[in-house]
Amino acid sequence: MSLFITFEGGEGCGKTVQTRALYRRLTREGIPAVLTHEPGGTVIGEKIARWLKWAHGAGISPLTELLMFDASRAQLVEEFIQPSLKHGKVVICDRFADSTIAYQGYGRGLDLQMVRSINDTAAHGLKPDLTILLDSPAEIGLARKGKGKQDRFHQADIAFHTKVRQGYLKLAAEEPARWLVIDASQSKKEISEIIWGKVRLSLRAHSLRSV
Ligand code: TMP
Repeated sequence: MSLFITFEGGEGCGKTVQTRALYRRLTREGIPAVLTHEPGGTVIGEKIARWLKWAHGAGISPLTELLMFDASRAQLVEEFIQPSLKHGKVVICDRFADSTIAYQGYGRGLDLQMVRSINDTAAHGLKPDLTILLDSPAEIGLARKGKGKQDRFHQADIAFHTKVRQGYLKLAAEEPARWLVIDASQSKKEISEIIWGKVRLSLRAHSLRSV
């Protein structure tokens, strides 16, 4: 049986490191797993992601932004996630539909019902079995990400990023059975152990195999 695990969080929360750590751990345990990310993960998705992140000054409207994220998602779900789940793999995805609710819904202020409905269509109704939120105050995450080359989201003001964080916490509170909220200020090792403990339980619950 397959399992769909997503990672969420604001800028600089350490998701990417943790998705890779989990992928390596599963592989070491002999559990078939794949790792992907949003936006992107497919040839078309990577082209859309480049626009979304780097088209500074193109005046992309919030609705256009929403549709572009969901276009990238539709392709990823059809081309990669669904086939991987059908082959009995654990799919780890660095961001998924909850990012759109947090960023385009809570952050940009688009109607939440509309965002959810378009997300559902793009994801073919697919929902994660487990979502891990690496929670961190916006200022800390942005500082951790540094002042290097900044994409459109990194450049948004602190008020935007604070709304995104609050949105994530609301989503997690609405569905506690699906979400695991982790304080991202802990060490990488501590965080990866918490994640592994939870994933083991989820694997058992989904009787993928006993670990
Ligand atoms: P990342 O590769 O650093 O995670 O960058 C993706 C950026 O896109 C990040 O700032 C969050 C944002 N994003 C949205 O605004 N909506 C979405 O649906 C997704 C998947 C990402």
